[in-house]
Amino acid sequence: MSKDISVSDEKLVAMAKEAIDMAYAPYSKFRVAAALVTSKGNIHTGVNVENASYGLTVCAERVAVLKAVSCGDREIERIAVVSSSEGKVFPCGACRQVLSEFSSGDLSVIISDTSGGVTENLRLADLLPRAFGPEPLGDR
Ligand code: THU
Repeated sequence: MSKDISVSDEKLVAMAKEAIDMAYAPYSKFRVAAALVTSKGNIHTGVNVENASYGLTVCAERVAVLKAVSCGDREIERIAVVSSSEGKVFPCGACRQVLSEFSSGDLSVIISDTSGGVTENLRLADLLPRAFGPEPLGDR
C-alpha cells in the first residue's frame, strides 16, 4: 500500500502496470492488474490469481478491493484496470458488484490499453445500473 491523496489517473494506470508481473495466470495466460485509491488516499493494487480448480480464480479488481477493505479502507474513489493483452479490459459483473459495495455510484473506473494512456473514464453507475444494495435487506 502507498499513499498519495492526489494521485493522477495516469499514475494509477502506471501503478497497475507495474503490478501486472505479479499476476498468477498460468491457465488463461491473461494477466490483469488493478490499482485503486480510497478516500483516505491509500493506494492498493491487485492482480488476478488463478487456480487449477478454475472456478476459484479471483479477478485483479476484487483482489485490490479485498486488500483495501482488510486495511480498513472501505471507500473506493477510483480504480484503474489494465491487462497484458491488446485492447481494453472492463471489470466483470462480479467485480462491478463488489466494487459497488465499497463505493458510491460515482466511482471512477479508469480503463487503459497497451498504449499505457487513459483511454476511457467510466462511472460505476453506468457499468452497473440499478445495482443490488443493502436497502432491501432492511434492519437485520
Ligand atoms: N480477469 C480479471 O482479473 N479481471 C476482469 O475484469 C476480467 C477477468 C481475469 C480472471 C482470469 O484470471 C482471467 O482474467 C481470464 O478470465
